[in-house]
Parts: sequence; structure tokens; C-alpha cells
Amino acid sequence: MPAMDVCVRRITAADGPLLRELRLRSLSEAPEAFGQSLADAAARPDAEWRAEAKAASQGDRRAWFIAHDAGADRTTSVGVVLVRRRPPDVALVFSMWVDPQVRRGGVGRVLIRAATDWAASWGADRVVLWVVAGNEPAIRFYQRLGFTLVDSGPDAESGRAYGALAMVRGITAEAFRAP
Ligand SMILES: CC(C)(COP(=O)(O)OP(=O)(O)OC[C@H]1O[C@@H](n2cnc3c(N)ncnc32)[C@H](O)[C@@H]1OP(=O)(O)O)[C@@H](O)C(=O)NCCC(=O)NCCS
Repeated sequence: MPAMDVCVRRITAADGPLLRELRLRSLSEAPEAFGQSLADAAARPDAEWRAEAKAASQGDRRAWFIAHDAGADRTTSVGVVLVRRRPPDVALVFSMWVDPQVRRGGVGRVLIRAATDWAASWGADRVVLWVVAGNEPAIRFYQRLGFTLVDSGPDAESGRAYGALAMVRGITAEAFRAP
């Protein structure tokens, strides 16, 4: 699809219900891509979603970013990603998801850029994530953005334990900056 007019923002403390909705949509649509089950997420109390949104809305420990369709009413959410700090200088990306109706429109790229810009703001040196082995579309997506598969070391080993591949890229990879 043609590049989509998308705006991305950091989660706010009031976004607990929206975060819950986005996670349930992600886990319903692509259950095989994530480590959490839909049932577990659905059973999580509202207070925990509110606490998660609040914790991720400020500071440099964790941040969720939410993508909205800027061409619609700006309230339609079309994607989400979580990025966490692993001190001192590694950003960990989780829970990346884009609504299937707008895939291949650049939303994922903009979400990863927002996550990485945030990580750069506190001095991250590299970005690490895990992708379920066999999730070829996601692997190709991350490779397009400059990530490479990690063969050895603790991140590769911890991923292998649950059937996932670790991927890494430097915070300023040129490939990532390409439009
Ligand atoms: C992976 C995912 C996040 C990509 O989001 P997206 O918004 O479609 O990605 P973008 O449009 O920004 O893609 C950027 C580039 O990545 C590559 N890419 C994206 N999806 C791809 C696919 N299915 N196959 C091959 N390359 C792909 C392309 O080079 C693309 O650029 P192009 O469309 O101009 O060729 C999305 O497919 C998704 O949510 N999948 C289900 C959940 C999931 O697997 N999450 C990852 C968990 S680790």
C-alpha cells in the first residue's frame, strides 16, 4: 500500500484502556508472534494496564509508542511498540504490531524510529529484539531497517530457550534512516 499519513506519540498516563485494546488486538490477530497469550492479557486487571501506561509515559526506563492514522480523525490507532532500557546502553524492543489493514504503509518503520529516537535520547548504543523463528515477514522487516540476526552470546541463547531469534542494530544505522 502507499505510504500512510501516520503520527506516532508516546503513551500517556490516561492510555491504560487503549493499551489494553491494542494488546488484545495484537494477540488476537498475530498470536504466534508474541510470548504472551490472549487469555493472559485479557485477564489482566484494568489497574495493571493503567499502571503500565503511567510507568511508560515518562522517564527513561520504558516507553510505549502508539501510531495513529493522521489522515482519519487522529484517534484511530493502527500500531504499537514497547521499548525498554537495559542499563546502561541497550534498548530492548517488544510487542511490535501494526494493524493488517495498513501493513506495508510505513507504520512499522515510523514506530521503530520513534522507539529508537527515544532510546538515543538517553544514550542507547544499540537496539536488541527477539523475533519468533519462522516469522519471516517480521525478520525481513527488521533486516530492512538495519537489524541483523545474532548467532551467539547471551541474547541469542535466551531467545533460543523459547524459540526466538535475537536481532541487533546500532542506534544510528544508516539503513534505518532511509525513507
Ligand atoms: C512486522 C510488522 C510490524 C511490519 O509493519 P509494517 O507497518 O507493515 O512495516 P513497514 O510498512 O514499515 O515496512 C518497512 C519495510 O520493511 C519490509 N517489510 C515489511 N513487511 C514485510 C513483509 N511482510 N515481507 C517482506 N518485507 C517486509 C519492506 O522492505 C518494507 O518496505 P516496503 O514496503 O517499502 O518494501 C507487521 O507486519 C506486523 O505487525 N506483523 C505481525 C506482528 C509481528 O510479527 N510483530 C513482530 C514481533 S517481533
